[in-house]
Amino acid sequence: MRHWVSLNGTLLAAEEARVSVFDAGFMQGIGLFETMRAYDGRIFRLQPHLDRLVNSARVLGWSVLPEPDDLEENVRQVVSATPAADTRVRLTVTTGSLHAEASDTPQLTVVATASPLEKHPDELYTQGVSVVISATRQNPTDPTNGHKTTSYFARLAALRAAHKQAAFEALWFTPDGFLAEGSISSVFVVRDEQLLTPPLDTPVLPGITRATLMEFAVALDIPVRELPLTLDDLRASEEMFLTNSMMEVLPVVRIAREPIGNEKIGETTRKLAVAYTELVNQECVGE
Ligand SMILES: Cc1ncc(COP(=O)(O)O)c(C=O)c1O
Repeated sequence: MRHWVSLNGTLLAAEEARVSVFDAGFMQGIGLFETMRAYDGRIFRLQPHLDRLVNSARVLGWSVLPEPDDLEENVRQVVSATPAADTRVRLTVTTGSLHAEASDTPQLTVVATASPLEKHPDELYTQGVSVVISATRQNPTDPTNGHKTTSYFARLAALRAAHKQAAFEALWFTPDGFLAEGSISSVFVVRDEQLLTPPLDTPVLPGITRATLMEFAVALDIPVRELPLTLDDLRASEEMFLTNSMMEVLPVVRIAREPIGNEKIGETTRKLAVAYTELVNQECVGE
């Protein structure tokens, strides 16, 4: 299959897309990205993804902000050129070239790609996964925490360390011992029939899947609370799951080999996973 890239609004064959060696994303790691999922060729919750990226650029003090309409055009262009129904769509925006070769006005670099989604095996969803605790802490004074910046080295290193221990994800805690999030996911637990997740100012990334779940949990009569959670709170919980746009709702049944609840997928997790699929079908699949 031919791979396409949308680069600053132009659709190019992947092997022909080029970015300047002076690009701030390459030179200094100054960039933001979004990973989105398209079902049946339609991107789930595109607007909140674009809003999150633009908001991060504003909060991080970029002198030029991306235009949501431009971003949307790049993303739609590459998705339409990619025939697979279920795709992983990545949008990357950097502050562009540091070299004033063309003009005094910095021009952002916008890249959108789409590739057929490699789904996680079904058994992860039917049996649940294990997680470990990340050796790296989520530092609340690091301005990039809570944003999806292109500097993901520490997160990917923690994820790789988890995989080496036969775990699926690593949970990140603050230096004070409060749960933040996974390396690349949001974390929820269920306790006394309530859905609990760390507050956004922990800080954590304002996950689009996290927000979607919190929205419809209320409609399903499942009370939701944003609450600081310690490792002991997690151990005492009945259910746990991870979310992100690719994995959707993924049950966790062990933390560092210790079982959570009865080590089986809980009722609330199951209910939320079913409701998420229904919502995706409603918003993206079919006519
Ligand atoms: C650190 C972190 N937290 C949470 C998430 C989940 O975000 P979303 O639900 O928007 O995909 C991600 C996704 O990659 C992430 O990298």
